[in-house]
Amino acid sequence: MTRQIVSIVGGKDVPATSTYSSGNPARTGEVVATVGLADAAAFAAACRTAKEAQREWAKVPAPVRGRVIASIGRLVEANAEALARLVTEEIGKPYKESLGEVREIVDTCDFFLGEGRRLYGQTVPSEMPDKNLFTFRNPVGVAAVITAGNFPVAVPSWYLVPALLCGNAVVWKPAEYAAASAHAMYRLFAASGLPEGVLNIVFADGKETFEGLDLALTEGTVQKVGFTGSSEVGRKIGELTGRHLQSACLELGGKNPMVVMPDADLALAVEGALFGGFGTAGQRCTSLGTVIVHESVHDEFVERFARAVSNAKIGEPMGDVLAGPLLDEKFAVRYEEFLTWIQPHHEVVTGDTGKISKESPHHEFTGEGGLYYHPVVVDGVRPGDRLFLEETFGPIVGVTTFQTMDEAIELANLPGYGLSSSIYTTDAKNAFRFREGVSAGMVSVNNSTSGAEAHLPFGGNGKSGNGSRQSGMWVLDQFTRWQAMNWDHSGRLQKAQMDVADITPDLDFRLP
Ligand code: UN1
Repeated sequence: MTRQIVSIVGGKDVPATSTYSSGNPARTGEVVATVGLADAAAFAAACRTAKEAQREWAKVPAPVRGRVIASIGRLVEANAEALARLVTEEIGKPYKESLGEVREIVDTCDFFLGEGRRLYGQTVPSEMPDKNLFTFRNPVGVAAVITAGNFPVAVPSWYLVPALLCGNAVVWKPAEYAAASAHAMYRLFAASGLPEGVLNIVFADGKETFEGLDLALTEGTVQKVGFTGSSEVGRKIGELTGRHLQSACLELGGKNPMVVMPDADLALAVEGALFGGFGTAGQRCTSLGTVIVHESVHDEFVERFARAVSNAKIGEPMGDVLAGPLLDEKFAVRYEEFLTWIQPHHEVVTGDTGKISKESPHHEFTGEGGLYYHPVVVDGVRPGDRLFLEETFGPIVGVTTFQTMDEAIELANLPGYGLSSSIYTTDAKNAFRFREGVSAGMVSVNNSTSGAEAHLPFGGNGKSGNGSRQSGMWVLDQFTRWQAMNWDHSGRLQKAQMDVADITPDLDFRLP
């Protein structure tokens, strides 16, 4: 039976103005959910509802909010298999990875349930007697959170969990093609006892969401926007929020480099490149973009990498596979365009490219009925190529060479993104030189570009974001504003910088 889902605002279903069909990419034509979409006005109305609810939620003591987060973690844990199965059904993520994704929500809850008992402010000494200084973290108000569908539940939890813990209300707009997974996650959050209106889910297309967000920002009902998605849309959100004197939390694309030094353990580097490039069918923002391999080990690396990729298992995502189908039809269309960027000076070292079919199988797998694509490794990529410079969301990895460490760092930074990066080396000096020179927000040493843990700062620079960081204690700065308080109990007006005691030093003093 097909699920019918609509937006939920203030605990109530919202009538839809149009519908969207979320399908199974492993069996196109099979509908996972019929999704009722809301319009811009409904989005703005959701933000008003959230604003109302936020006032009371902020008054709930933070440790009690922390216990709600604890309950969400337990509920997600108890429903892990069902949620992971749904994620696999809706976006084709291999089941083992979907379980990992659900685990990431639990990890996030585990971290923030304790933050409810911290959420520290400071006591700070004053320059005057009988005066005390303090800092407090205040919730920002309402957070509008717009998320992609490649991590339909884990990445949203990076916003929702800390935002709620800090005393904010949330309006969440998930990707339409992952709507059923998002709806299920909403229901788990709601079961924790969150008061109605504190968390709201709105299904809408990009255009209506943008208009609704503009309306809400103008009405003053949204104080923080969180966005995970393309650099192109991130730029628009950044412009919009900038006009309203807000800075959005932006988590955008990546062209994540992996440098392979001559002293690298090549078997390990190949394993990392395989997972980084083709796990999740290359559809993570942290997926490997280009391998920058030292010319002395290039031939051996490419030969081993091509073999590993050709041997990797692709297929039905409930099975034990490295990759399943692409997320959705629109990603398949875009991926086919990326394949046209392959030039005559390139060499595809992995065999067929494009859709897996009876005529072009991957081993015995013929990919019938699903959005399955060949994994592609392109050697001979040059710094001026689109394949080198632009994100290619999907199963394609470029390879280029370098001679010196400085050149490797320059190549790693050249595309202008700056999310994740990796270096394979057995020399600590190389690792630290790379860390210092690379513009990425995240650096892996002897590990793949993807697979960040849920309590380190996650985020990028340049085209990958505006410097905002998610996860761990660092995300608290996104969802709270520092308030400074000074309290003078001297009974007189003590003026800062002026009524300050002066102790006179003898600055002419010298040792004999
Ligand atoms: C994303 O693709 O938006 O580090 C996030 C990783 C995952 C998160 C990816 N934990 O690969």
